[in-house]
Amino acid sequence: MKILSIETSCDETAISILEAEGDFYNEDNPIKFKILANNLISQIDIHKEYGGVFPALAKREHSKNLIPLLTKTLKDSSLSAPRSKYKDINDDISKILEREPELLKLFLKYIPTIEIPDIDIITVTQGPGLEPALWVGINFAKALSLVWDKPLIPVNHMEGHLLASLASSKIENIEFPAIALLISGGHTELILMKDWNKYEKIGQTRDDAVGEAFDKVARMIDLPYPGGPEISKLAEIERILSNPTTKFDISLPRPMLNTNDLDFSFSGLKTAVLYLVKNLKKEINQDYLPIEIKQKIALEFENAVIEILLKKTQKALQQYNAKTLILGGGVTANNQIRKEFQKLSAPRSKLEVLIPEKEFSTDNAVMIGIAGYFRYLNLSIKGEKLFATKILEFSADGNLSLN
Ligand code: KG4
Ligand code: ZN
Repeated sequence: MKILSIETSCDETAISILEAEGDFYNEDNPIKFKILANNLISQIDIHKEYGGVFPALAKREHSKNLIPLLTKTLKDSSLSAPRSKYKDINDDISKILEREPELLKLFLKYIPTIEIPDIDIITVTQGPGLEPALWVGINFAKALSLVWDKPLIPVNHMEGHLLASLASSKIENIEFPAIALLISGGHTELILMKDWNKYEKIGQTRDDAVGEAFDKVARMIDLPYPGGPEISKLAEIERILSNPTTKFDISLPRPMLNTNDLDFSFSGLKTAVLYLVKNLKKEINQDYLPIEIKQKIALEFENAVIEILLKKTQKALQQYNAKTLILGGGVTANNQIRKEFQKLSAPRSKLEVLIPEKEFSTDNAVMIGIAGYFRYLNLSIKGEKLFATKILEFSADGNLSLN
């Protein structure tokens, strides 16, 4: 089965085509994926100016980028062929895309010139994310589903992150019960999976998400958006240099480290950095911090985050006797986090640890294709038939939850 997937939940416009086969619990034909094409246009440089993602701008960029990305993706996968006879596109398309005039214009210019590609289903991110951004992808997917008469499956972005490691590792590596730690710009949660398609949230942040904390702390020490990679770079330098300690006390708290639950809190840590930065500036009597001090703050912040994530994850693993730990979300692109969590899979612990490749840690469309295939199998198990027009009524849901 060939799956075209579309992701526009935040500041990346992404489209991919996967070939998927296999079924749950089928040893002779386990689920497998092959990436036929995978493309992404990042808007980071555009949002940098604003120090964060600006939803109206994200929406506009998605509208502009989707058709060029689709063109390239179909070409990369050799699935597009020019159409010999111009095909009229019905009025419904103009209605579906009426809120995306730029996308509509590009759509009407390109789509009638190509044959219907040899894909079987279309999947698109329904949420969570920024609703104006989500809607562009959804309306685009609905329009394609209608002109090409292909079934359309809405996908939860967090299920995508959870399954992203399957882009490069075998499904047989996942044994239940499994625990997933999802760490992204908007989410920090621990999920218990007793079986395929069964997600139970057993812990979550009570305030800021980890990625959000990285981004906000970065801003406090004048690093550009997105802050995660910037903080991580400085922390890595500091780890290598291991400069002698300064006369300043750069220690940060580990909020909720020893609480009896599986929840997190990062806003206190963020506020502690704010006061630390204020006090340090006062002490050195300057309006900016020298790079050596920024490096130390970055390292201490990263260490605090990792200690908290590790402790709560280990607690969850023990509590549920988990056989697999799955990581997902943009923050898993962090080298130190990857290293520290990989250590949990020492041979004697009998724990398999799955971490997505960096390119599939941050937002991408491959993970939406994988989660889409899971949805498809699930619908088939329930005996539901998929029709292009049947599912067209769904809306973007900025707060869509996993369970
Ligand atoms: O999953 P993602 O791409 O988008 C959301 O669904 O939110 O995650 C983006 C988040 C941002 O907060 C970004 O700063 C963080 O992931 N991030 C990192 C790193 N790379 C991206 N955080 C820490 N270290 C990194 N290397
Ligand atoms: Zn994401």
